[in-house]
Amino acid sequence: MPTALLILAAGKGTRMHSDVPKVLHKLGSAPLLAHAISAGSTLDVARVVIVAGHGAEQVSAVARELHPAAEIAVQEEQLGTGHAVKTAKGMLADYSGDVIVLYGDTPFVKPETLAKMQAARVSGASVVVLGFDAADPGRYGRLILKENGDLSAIVEAKDASPFELETTLCNSGVIAADANHLFALVDRIDNDNASGEYYLTDIIGLANSEGARCAVVTCDEAETLGINSRVELAAAEITFQTNARADAFENGATLQAPETVIFAQDTLIGRDVTIGPNVVFGPGVTIESGADIRAFCHLEGCHISQGATVGPFARLRPGAEIGDNSHIGNFVEIKKSLVGEGAKINHLSYIGDAEIGNGANVGAGTITCNYDGVNKHVTKIGARAFIGSNSALIAPVSIGDDAMTGSGSVIAKDVPDGDLALTRVPQVNKTGFALKLMDRFKAIKAKKLAGKG
Ligand code: UD1
Ligand code: CA
Repeated sequence: MPTALLILAAGKGTRMHSDVPKVLHKLGSAPLLAHAISAGSTLDVARVVIVAGHGAEQVSAVARELHPAAEIAVQEEQLGTGHAVKTAKGMLADYSGDVIVLYGDTPFVKPETLAKMQAARVSGASVVVLGFDAADPGRYGRLILKENGDLSAIVEAKDASPFELETTLCNSGVIAADANHLFALVDRIDNDNASGEYYLTDIIGLANSEGARCAVVTCDEAETLGINSRVELAAAEITFQTNARADAFENGATLQAPETVIFAQDTLIGRDVTIGPNVVFGPGVTIESGADIRAFCHLEGCHISQGATVGPFARLRPGAEIGDNSHIGNFVEIKKSLVGEGAKINHLSYIGDAEIGNGANVGAGTITCNYDGVNKHVTKIGARAFIGSNSALIAPVSIGDDAMTGSGSVIAKDVPDGDLALTRVPQVNKTGFALKLMDRFKAIKAKKLAGKG
């Protein structure tokens, strides 16, 4: 059954004290919105509609990057969750299928949980609400059940009776229903309540009054955690990292000091990958099986193939493609470059906009001079080439297969296959000069000291 995600994200997020819309604050290096969208990752998601208000333009730009099909419904005035859903009605007028309503600031809802809600829809419930047993029910909406376990109403805390407030089964905010039915119900809600808002939760009472069955699916409270402040965001980051480390173990990785490894929302790690202490993953990293990521690496937008060794202290930036069994050593920075199978760049290098052939050896201190102050240029290093230590390769430049550059060379012209390129000044040895010079320097110093005395 096709499903549309309807993500409510118009709220101001006042308690973030920020100019950035709340749903664009980052958790695991990805906007909160990305987490909400990925909750639908195992569903057949036909549409993604985001109800935005504050910072709608910024939200819209990010949403399109996150999901090609993302659409934005702008809610100019935030009159409540029911009103927010109504805002998306026009946009989904041509859609038939289910809608799952999610909140943009609630990042931990699991795909399996949404799948359970979908299953409850398939087995006959007209409206399915995600509930949880709250440790501290406080201001959550309370789920009022019938004797048969079906849901009869949701009562907001502000409007609840003392008896209803005793209920610990609370509303997470996630709701699944048929689109046409949902919008028909939302059309009927009013704002005659303690907050003067249009409560989405009122659709349960309305659905029941027309004889439609409403059901509750439950999940752990941890999944429903919403973020309202920077303190909560920081706490959520800890939870996110803890979960990500657990997932890494589950996928067969070894983390030598798990609590020091920082993952991103989209980090993908294969089996038997070893990750040393203090490794940081920015967005867009995939690591194939058997790779060894040593201590203190910073990786972002890169792909590391099987059996490669990276670090300690390596920085891989967007577009770094590291080939099978290659070695990237300490204090090496690589940007937008292909490193061939078994190639070695072991010490103190900057490699940018380069293609490095299979089995090439890039000596210590090699720099690709890729930027002329205006444009970026490409450096090509052939298969099995040997780049002498402290070479500066001035791009655009190409070093052939099996070619060599002498240590300390500044290479500005192409080097054909198999050639050796040398650019340094020939060495001259002056016999005995070092000793003579030393004697002279010592004599000068002695004279100075004598003059003072
Ligand atoms: C809502 C539920 C409550 C539930 C709680 C769970 C209602 C009436 N109440 O209360 O039962 O226990 O969530 O956290 O639904 N939003 C808009 N436009 C609006 C209003 C809200 O987009 O006009 C968005 C917010 O940005 C937020 C979400 O909807 O992402 C929830 O709104 P919020 O005001 O936090 O609802 P609660 O009062 O917490
Ligand atoms: Ca809330």
